[in-house]
Amino acid sequence: MALLKILQYPDDRLYTVAKPVTKVTDATRALIRDMAETMYAAPGIGLAATQVDVHERIIVIDLSETRDGLLVLINPEFVRREGEVVREEGCLSVPGIYENLTRAERICVRALDENGIPRELEAEGLLATCIQHEMDHLEGRVFVEYLSQLKQTRIRAKLIKRRRETL
Ligand code: NI
Repeated sequence: MALLKILQYPDDRLYTVAKPVTKVTDATRALIRDMAETMYAAPGIGLAATQVDVHERIIVIDLSETRDGLLVLINPEFVRREGEVVREEGCLSVPGIYENLTRAERICVRALDENGIPRELEAEGLLATCIQHEMDHLEGRVFVEYLSQLKQTRIRAKLIKRRRETL
C-alpha cells in the first residue's frame, strides 16, 4: 500500500472529468486500498480518485468513528435526489476551509462495489452530503465553486499564500 499525493486547490487537474471504470480488476482494488489509506492518514471522511490525480470514477468514504466502515463507489450515478439541506463542508484538497452548502437531503445512487457488483444505496444526512461532494469531484467540480466569486477569490489567495509560507 502507498500514500498518494492529494492535489491541492487551485490545481487545474481537479477540474478533470473522470472516465468510467470499464472493468473492476486487481489494479482497481489496489488503487482503492491506496485511496483508503490516504484518506485515513489525512485524516478525512471521503476521497475521490480525481483528488489523487487518477481520473477514473472511484470514490471511497468512511464515516465510522472506528474507521472500519469503508464504502467504495465505482461509476456512481444518481437514481434519485430529494429535498434540500444545508451542511458545512470541507475538503482534503481545500485544507482549512469550511463553508455551508445546499445539497439534496436524501439520495439514491447506483454504483459498482470493489468486486464489480452493482448496488443501490439510499443515503441521507452526512452520508448523502458526502457522496454528492465526492461525485462532484468526478465531474471536475470542487465545492468552493458553489460559493460567490468574491469568496472563491479569497479562498484561492489564502491557500496560495499559505502554500508559499510552508515551502
Ligand atoms: Ni473534496
